[in-house]
Amino acid sequence: MKPVTDLSLYVHFPFCVHRCAYCDFNAFAAARVPRKAYAAALLREFELRLADLDATSARVRTIYFGGGTPSLWGPRGIGEFLDAIATRVLFDTTAEITVEVNPGTLERGSLRGFATAGVNRVSMGVQSFDAQRLRALDRVHGSDEALAAARQLARLIASGALRSASIDLIHGGFDQTVEDFHRDVDRFLSLDLPHLSAYGLTVEAGTPLHARVARAEAPIPDEATQAEILRELPEWLTPAGIARYEVSNHARAGHESHHNRAYWHGAPYLAIGAGAHGFLTRDLARTRTDDIGIRYGNLRSVPSYLAAIERGRLPEEFRERIDARTHAMERILTGLRTVEGVDLDSLARACGAEARVRVLERADRRMRLHADVVLVQDRLFVRPESFVFLDAIIRDLV
Ligand SMILES: C[S@@+](CC[C@H](N)C(=O)[O-])C[C@H]1O[C@@H](n2cnc3c(N)ncnc32)[C@H](O)[C@@H]1O
Ligand code: SF4
Repeated sequence: MKPVTDLSLYVHFPFCVHRCAYCDFNAFAAARVPRKAYAAALLREFELRLADLDATSARVRTIYFGGGTPSLWGPRGIGEFLDAIATRVLFDTTAEITVEVNPGTLERGSLRGFATAGVNRVSMGVQSFDAQRLRALDRVHGSDEALAAARQLARLIASGALRSASIDLIHGGFDQTVEDFHRDVDRFLSLDLPHLSAYGLTVEAGTPLHARVARAEAPIPDEATQAEILRELPEWLTPAGIARYEVSNHARAGHESHHNRAYWHGAPYLAIGAGAHGFLTRDLARTRTDDIGIRYGNLRSVPSYLAAIERGRLPEEFRERIDARTHAMERILTGLRTVEGVDLDSLARACGAEARVRVLERADRRMRLHADVVLVQDRLFVRPESFVFLDAIIRDLV
């Protein structure tokens, strides 16, 4: 009998009620969201993908509805979609099912509705609890709405309706000081939620924020402030029993995101929806080469995506082979961002013994010159206090 392959599923919902000035995700502001047509296309893509791969022994372990704003799909739409895919693929009964939620677009009762529909984890884009900062970030919600929605998440966890929940905060933009952000984190702590994702504001090319910064109408995010926040954040969270497990992610034990962990460990994931990117290992993708697997990216524009599905085609913009060297680089890149680091034994098993030798050679130089990378029991990791130099370390090691 073939061994069972654990599979993650990412579902992209590319609609928002309004496009935030800083965002460069594949998301489109839509006055009317074509929920039904898009849901039908997603299901059709899911069927096309199952026909394209060897999924007989795959079991879905995590599902992540990301966006855009998938909460605009509504509990009923997401519930029906979950029911439909459960009839088409083997489903782990303990699967982690996450939906991203924007606190400014929630109808009354919809958080509980998502839980009833089968979602067991919510990731809420709060960004800040400060009214002025939310305006600067161009969000559709105010701080009261964000607080009320986050409090409701905490109640749903306490009652057992949800297994876990996270909020996203953005730091270091619009002259925000370390103390300003500390106040946001204190608000988060007062809610007693088990997971926090904290991102330094990045000014992405092509966004309205980028244009504003170029015209000197908005300040460039201060790197020194972001670095100090990165250094201090774990200390603020530790008394609440929340620990960093990846450079931007912090959780109480047992509340780490299984879905994101699957990405970071190089596990296969199927992705559907406009602009979604998937990675399938050789066994699933039925490739007959020595490669590790394939990566694909879907068409980003919704009309092109829908048109491809209509013609019965996989809506792909590109598909590329992932050889052992590329896969090793990706594992090192994501692994070094985690607190547990890169498991060299598992790296060698997946990518060959040369992958271990290559990274150790490079790490050795870094260890001698900077002492910010450590090797303990066949795990290579970045010292937590050196996470501020992560980009330079990764550039050196891959
Ligand atoms: C795709 S959004 C999902 C949440 C939902 N769409 C919302 O915004 O409420 C994922 C997260 O990425 C972060 N993010 C997006 N653009 C960013 C940027 N330019 N800099 C820093 N963080 C960013 C935000 O924290 C956001 O919540
Ligand atoms: S709501 Fe989220 S996905 Fe949509 S534009 Fe804003 S940050 Fe981007």
